Amino acid sequence: MKPNTIVYTSNTGYTRQYATLLGEKTGLPVYSLNEAMKKLDPGRSILYFGWLMAGKVQGYAKASKRFHVEAVCGVGMGATGSQIEDLRKANTLPASLPVFTLQGGFDITRLRGIYKLMMTVMIKTAGKGLSNKKDRSPEEDAMLELMLHGGSHVSEENLTAVLEWYQKAQ
Ligand SMILES: Cc1cc2nc3c(=O)[nH]c(=O)nc-3n(C[C@H](O)[C@H](O)[C@H](O)COP(=O)(O)O)c2cc1C
Repeated sequence: MKPNTIVYTSNTGYTRQYATLLGEKTGLPVYSLNEAMKKLDPGRSILYFGWLMAGKVQGYAKASKRFHVEAVCGVGMGATGSQIEDLRKANTLPASLPVFTLQGGFDITRLRGIYKLMMTVMIKTAGKGLSNKKDRSPEEDAMLELMLHGGSHVSEENLTAVLEWYQKAQ
């Protein structure tokens, strides 16, 4: 079914930016998951956006218990369109559910507490591993650049596949 609402969970704002951009493109109303839990009737058809933490789409489990999730967009550090099968496995997403990945952004100064600690460790381990790797792919280069210097990859182009799916959905 075609979703009639966009719901998102964002920690540092990049996922919210994507949800808002898609809301502008489609005219659909946009709610954070917290707002949606208070304001929307259960069972509503939604398009869900969640940021990725250790491979998990944040808020998806909660959102899918209350609403009818028509498609999922995971926002992480990897390239747009990558890691889709990994995401399906890690989040036990049904094969029939459309899944999209979008490259978000990274800014260590926006992180607090445990998240900051986790990313500091991640930069030291994965970041170091990537730095030392000689034959990095363009995607790995982009990920390394994000980890080391931060930045945003949020763009309208990255939403092309999601928008095409939405326009075809009935
Ligand atoms: C603790 C932590 C774990 C993360 N794990 C992943 C991950 O497994 N895969 C990924 O692609 N990005 C991962 N990221 C990157 C975030 O998903 C990315 O920065 C995203 O744009 C954050 O969105 P937000 O601004 O909406 O919170 C992680 C970030 C943090 C802070």
